[in-house]
Amino acid sequence: MSIDQTIEKRHSIIRSFFPGTGRSYDTVVHVFSLGLDLYWKRAIYKHVPSSKRILDLACGTGIVTLGLAKRHPEAELVGVDITDDYLTIYQKRIQKNRIRAQFILGNAEDVKLDGMFDAVVSSYIPKYVDPDVLLKNISPHICSGGVIVLHDFTLPPNFLVRSIWTAYNLVMNFIGIRLFSEWKEVFDSGLTRLIRETRWFETFPEALARHGFTNIQKKYLTLGSAGIIRAVKK
Ligand SMILES: C[S@@+](CC[C@H](N)C(=O)[O-])C[C@H]1O[C@@H](n2cnc3c(N)ncnc32)[C@H](O)[C@@H]1O
Repeated sequence: MSIDQTIEKRHSIIRSFFPGTGRSYDTVVHVFSLGLDLYWKRAIYKHVPSSKRILDLACGTGIVTLGLAKRHPEAELVGVDITDDYLTIYQKRIQKNRIRAQFILGNAEDVKLDGMFDAVVSSYIPKYVDPDVLLKNISPHICSGGVIVLHDFTLPPNFLVRSIWTAYNLVMNFIGIRLFSEWKEVFDSGLTRLIRETRWFETFPEALARHGFTNIQKKYLTLGSAGIIRAVKK
C-alpha cells in the first residue's frame, strides 16, 4: 500500500467512526471501557507538569481539556479535533465550565498552530495518525523541556489476557451495535480491527527520538489493554 493509500485509509476510518457520534461519545467511552477511561485519563494528567499553555490533540468532546483545566486553572488550553460535531459539544462544555480554552477544527497532522506549548496531550489519537507526520507538525510548537503524553488502546501482549480481551470485544460489539446504531462502523469490528492492526506503541518511541525528544517512557495500562507514552522535548 502506498503512503497516500495508507493516509486515505486512515482518514476514511476517522470519517466512518466519528461524524454523528459526538452526542453519545461520553456515554459510549465510559460504558464500553468499563469505566477504565477515567482511570487512563488520570494517568495522562499525572504526567503533565505545571504549564502555561497545553494542547489537547483530538480533544473530542473535551473530557481531557476539562480534566486539565481543573488541575491547571491558570493554563491556557487549546483543543484540536477533526470532527465538527465533537467540537460543538466541546464548545458547550468549555462555556458551561468557564474554561479558558480555544478550539480549532483541523487534522492534528497538518493543523496550523500558533505559539508554543509546555505540554501536548492526546487520548486516543495515536492509532489514527502517522507518528512522523504528526510530530513534524507538532514538535516545533513544544517548548524545550516541554512534555508530550500519548495514550491509546493496545492489543494485550499476554496470550491469556488477549483471549479475554477478544471475548470482551465480541460481547461489546454485539451489544454496542444494538444500543448505539450511530456507532455501527465502530462496533462492526472496526475498532477491534484497528487495535489489532495498529503499531503505535512500537513506532511512536522511535519517531519521538527522531523528532528531538528524550526521556521517552512507555507503560502498559490495565493488563496491556491500553498504553501511555511520555517524552520530553530537548
Ligand atoms: C475516541 S475520540 C477521543 C476524544 C478525546 N480525546 C477523549 O479522550 O475523550 C477520538 C477523537 O479523535 C479525533 N481525531 C481522530 N483523528 C484525528 C486527527 N488526525 N486530527 C484531529 N482529530 C482527530 C476524532 O474526531 C475524535 O473526536
